[in-house]
Amino acid sequence: MCGIVGVLGDHEAAPLLVEALKRLEYRGYDSAGIATVNEAGRLDRRRAVGKLVNLSDLLVHEPLSGRAGIGHTRWATHGAATRENAHPHRAGRVAVVHNGIIENFRALRAELAEDGIEADSETDTEVVALLAARHLEQGMTPDEAVTATLERLEGAFALCFLFEGEGDLLIAARKGSPLAIGHGEGEMFVGSDAIALAPMTERITYLEEGDRAVISRAGAQIFDADGRRVNREMREVRLDAARIGKAGYRHFMAKEIAEQPAVIGDVLSAYIASDGSAVSLPLEGLDFRNISRLTLVACGTAHIACLAAKYWFERYARLPVEVDIASEFRYREAPIPPGTVALFVSQSGETADTLAALRYAQGKADKTVSLVNVPESSIARESDIAVPILAGAEISVASTKAFTCQLTTFALMALHAARQRGELDRAGLAAQLADLRRLPGLMSHALAIEDALREVARELAEARDVLFLGRGQMYPLALEGALKLKEISYIHAEGYPAGELKHGPIALIDKATPTVVLAPHDGLLDKTVSNMQEVMARGGPVLLITDSRAAESAAEGAWAQITLPEAPEFVQPILYALPVQMLAYHAALALGKDVDQPRNLAKSVTVE
Ligand code: M6R
Repeated sequence: MCGIVGVLGDHEAAPLLVEALKRLEYRGYDSAGIATVNEAGRLDRRRAVGKLVNLSDLLVHEPLSGRAGIGHTRWATHGAATRENAHPHRAGRVAVVHNGIIENFRALRAELAEDGIEADSETDTEVVALLAARHLEQGMTPDEAVTATLERLEGAFALCFLFEGEGDLLIAARKGSPLAIGHGEGEMFVGSDAIALAPMTERITYLEEGDRAVISRAGAQIFDADGRRVNREMREVRLDAARIGKAGYRHFMAKEIAEQPAVIGDVLSAYIASDGSAVSLPLEGLDFRNISRLTLVACGTAHIACLAAKYWFERYARLPVEVDIASEFRYREAPIPPGTVALFVSQSGETADTLAALRYAQGKADKTVSLVNVPESSIARESDIAVPILAGAEISVASTKAFTCQLTTFALMALHAARQRGELDRAGLAAQLADLRRLPGLMSHALAIEDALREVARELAEARDVLFLGRGQMYPLALEGALKLKEISYIHAEGYPAGELKHGPIALIDKATPTVVLAPHDGLLDKTVSNMQEVMARGGPVLLITDSRAAESAAEGAWAQITLPEAPEFVQPILYALPVQMLAYHAALALGKDVDQPRNLAKSVTVE
């Protein structure tokens, strides 16, 4: 959840640390801090509560010099967002930044207290600094002190240590949380991900589980969990500046919404054979004829993508699908019978619950498959088959383009499964693929309705509660609409299957509670329209999101109507993601909310 960075530079470290933290702020923004070792070997730090800009302001008045440093942006787990709890944590000659959770920190704290060593903060991290400092006091070298400290830690961590008097040394360690080492020309870097290091270097080495790296400007020596010196591959990670900057948009979310026609086009070109006749997903060794059940597991928006995929797999491939929330699945001890393929979806590939669920399924499921956006992520590396969703860097906390790329990849996989299982003939597959290929164009048209959505969103933003309704494959989209709205505008919203309304939620309907109805022309339109009438009969204002064909029969009596281009039924869930994303975005803007960094949230949830 937190972002960490380390620099052994040629010039002043503080500006580089702040620049890297800017790119990591999506991981948390409760506080930020940096520590440096100056040319005299003095270790010093600055920390500020709230967003990174507060730290930048502080550094104007209280600058830090030195070419070696570490930095941190925090998503609070243990202890409130205060200066005392902000990283880097320092004890004696050592400072440390941490992403993850030290689960045994209470026991370690008690042990330190017995020796008269007291913590200044409420965090789990401070014990790491205290332990390392105690070992240094006992005469150990920095590397010995870190090694001895790591042996005591339970839980998950990515750590980076900096030492007083050591202007050419960083020590980094990884267990359960990702960490990248960046190689410059006579400079070295550490970061939670490659995006953080992009302005400094594109040459990256990812640490593996249990690795420790002793880093100087000359390079990094990496040791595995058993203390053996190991070589880890260095790769060139090309991160297109346009893909990681805002490219002129006011927010990353706006940019990422607008990118969808292009990235969906990328997915389709990558995963449909050039003659348009077959799906070419990287699914080697997976034969859907041998599968009796598919278990889909994820969190948040990725979980909603799984719910949408269920409709496709069951309807077109006749393959039974169960969908689970990762934090429930991992502890439920769900039986996984032979013939089950377990598939995990995660934009970041680092979500703690999804990773734990994957580990639970290993050895039980016939195969584990993942759909990820970050190909180097833990979930990608640990699953038998990893399918990249090709969305490019997604920075905004609210997931948008990753969702539609997950959906498109799932749609292709369902068609591939249908063909393999004999549920779809060659012509049928070609026709569905042709429909999918229309998506980038349809999406561009859908983006053009933004002005109309902005107007409606302004009014919607005045509501305290909003309901979203959809039937069949539109039901998951209703859930996604509600999640997006509450996540960035803080308006309470719920998504329901339209047919479920009269079993309880209809009691919420009054003239102050708008209902957003997702109702394209499909086999269930008449039923959805009936449910919409039930809402309007009780005075509830309805915003109908529909297409030109359905609008004629459905729109009467609605408070507002948004009309999308008519689309083949198979691709409708992907297209209808756009209006609900734009609705949430403009409602949040109307309320003056921080769209890219909503309160209490972080992009990558690497803790339970
Ligand atoms: O990185 P992941 O896809 O595993 O993340 C899962 C959820 O945390 C994520 O989708 C979250 O719900 C988003 N903020 C929703 O916009």
